[in-house]
Amino acid sequence: MTGLLERLGVELPVVQAGMGGGIARSELAAAVSEAGGLGTIGIMPAGALGAELRKARQRTSGPIAINLLLNLARAKHWEVARDADAVVTFWGKPRRQSDNVWLHQCGSVEEARAAHAAGADGVIVQGVEAGGHVRGTTPALELLARTREALPDGYPLLLAGGIADAADVRRALDAGAEAAVLGTRFLMSDESGARQAYKQRLMESRETVLTELFGLGWPDATHRVLWNEVTERWLRGDRRGPAWVRLANRATGPVLARLPDSAQGAALRRQRAGVPFLSPQPATDQAPSNLLDAGPLYAGETVARIHDVRPAAELVRELAAGG
Ligand SMILES: Cc1cc2nc3c(=O)[nH]c(=O)nc-3n(C[C@H](O)[C@H](O)[C@H](O)COP(=O)(O)O)c2cc1C
Repeated sequence: MTGLLERLGVELPVVQAGMGGGIARSELAAAVSEAGGLGTIGIMPAGALGAELRKARQRTSGPIAINLLLNLARAKHWEVARDADAVVTFWGKPRRQSDNVWLHQCGSVEEARAAHAAGADGVIVQGVEAGGHVRGTTPALELLARTREALPDGYPLLLAGGIADAADVRRALDAGAEAAVLGTRFLMSDESGARQAYKQRLMESRETVLTELFGLGWPDATHRVLWNEVTERWLRGDRRGPAWVRLANRATGPVLARLPDSAQGAALRRQRAGVPFLSPQPATDQAPSNLLDAGPLYAGETVARIHDVRPAAELVRELAAGG
């Protein structure tokens, strides 16, 4: 591995994706960084994000990144992010808002060009195989090749989507990626904040679906999830979700995204599979248990090939053996 991550003090070409809403907290990020990769804390309310960054610093002296979703991040999130070693942004018009190392995750060549022009230190190229929210519409390696042609030689490109083992990491590096970025593999680690029952479903599942169903407060945003009661109920017709629900999500999105956390918490506890106004909040160990059947069980296509939940440090070492 050369270049950007090395300058950050990252030893191995393995980056743990930021996974918001309490999936990627300090335990996971610190375990990954302590093992030589780059750990990332996902977006959450700004006060909690600051506390998680401080906890991660107590657990490791390795570099820590913070992931911010540009549609949800507010000034207070940026105040916290400036104290991280790197900030990784996603979902929105790329714009430099801090002096630390900045990566932007992109789903198209156009988006990568825009991030480069805005001064990003590198981009994460996301393929359609990815779990969680997905901007990519083509396989990751294909998008990497096209992005490489469009941007100057040596500009750091990282690859996300469809990476689960050391051979996948090797393929990404051979194709010119500076590092591999993995979400689903680290979601299925001891340290992720996913509920035990969610981890169990991940181990048992093979199939995912790309949808816009969980669009309350975040409309028109494609995401990849496992099938569960609520997806079975509402995605038998249009995989994106019923048109009237998407329309309502679009109309209410700007207001709902600004609701105080307490109001959002109360709404989450009432979320049911029978009522298709569905928040993107994942089923973490701190979220209400009804979200297992009435919420998004984010997962990438690699869930078909991953059948265990393991310590993150062990995963980092094993993944990097391909590097
Ligand atoms: C559970 C889960 C939550 C995610 N949340 C975020 C997020 O908050 N911000 C972000 O930039 N990407 C998020 N992603 C997408 C990842 O950044 C990354 O693109 C993806 O995980 C790569 O594909 P993989 O899941 O096949 O490894 C999430 C992915 C998963 C699986």
